[in-house]
Amino acid sequence: GSTLQAAAAETNRYFGTAMAAHYLNNSGTMNIVNREFNMITAENEMKMDAMQPNRGQFNWSSGDRIVNWARQNGKQVRGHALAWHSQQPGWMQNMSGSTLRTAMLEHVTGVATYYRGKIHSWDVVNEAFADGSSGARRSSNLQGTGNDWIEAAFRAARAADPGAKLCYNDYNTDNWSHAKTQAVYNMVKDFKSRGVPIDCVGFQAHFNSGNPVPSNYHTTLGNFAALGVDVQITELDIEGSGNSQGEQYRGIVQACLSVARCTGITVWGVKDSDSWRASGTPLLFDGNGNKKAAYNYTLDAL
Ligand code: XIL
Repeated sequence: GSTLQAAAAETNRYFGTAMAAHYLNNSGTMNIVNREFNMITAENEMKMDAMQPNRGQFNWSSGDRIVNWARQNGKQVRGHALAWHSQQPGWMQNMSGSTLRTAMLEHVTGVATYYRGKIHSWDVVNEAFADGSSGARRSSNLQGTGNDWIEAAFRAARAADPGAKLCYNDYNTDNWSHAKTQAVYNMVKDFKSRGVPIDCVGFQAHFNSGNPVPSNYHTTLGNFAALGVDVQITELDIEGSGNSQGEQYRGIVQACLSVARCTGITVWGVKDSDSWRASGTPLLFDGNGNKKAAYNYTLDAL
């Protein structure tokens, strides 16, 4: 294939990008999105604060702009994210207990119902585990509603949109030997054994010199897949430049291709100048939309 989406399709995988609503105003960026990618994630527009700015009052406008563009152009959509400790609307941030649990479930149900049938995979719960060596859940207002908040969210999402794949998504879960990776693995194993509806695990894959691409990545992806879930690289970006950056992108692609249930890769933005990383050049296209070495390594590896 001569594009990322075409090359990925040769092994029945997708290749996606995050897309912000403001991309729609930039024809150069949108030409790249349309040419290279067949899976779209809204960078911010489908998060809790964007979807439900006031309790019980949903605002679909920005999410719809992205979802409608994607569908009109033959792209699939990853929904991101139904329940998360971050980017909550102000009214939710100070909630707790059963009031928050109810509000969270109403949010999951409301959003997943509205987009029912239009979403390939939902990140049902994002970033619920702590960093470091504890393997514990992240402390948050949602965790404070009880340890079963994650499975409750997954059950609500399944009821609202039975056709969407339901994912747990997190970062720093790439290295098999990390406590956080093991903790997420044990949760997924427990969910599968008890029949909690979960179909996929998303690996954000934000890498930099302090958090490099692990050499055991294929082991991590393979072990999760062996639990009976798909695995997806959901927010890939890698700090660096030139061939060394390209080799790391190649490593990610090779790890995914080595696992049958690794079904697709999404990069977290198109041009370096659009990246959420304030400085640096972590993406596949430079600020002018030119293909970088990282692009060529990625395409060659697919
Ligand atoms: C980031 C967006 O890219 C930024 O624009 C925003 O200011 C903060 O969130 N993990 C996630 C994504 O799951 O939603 C985050 O996206 C990056 C880290």
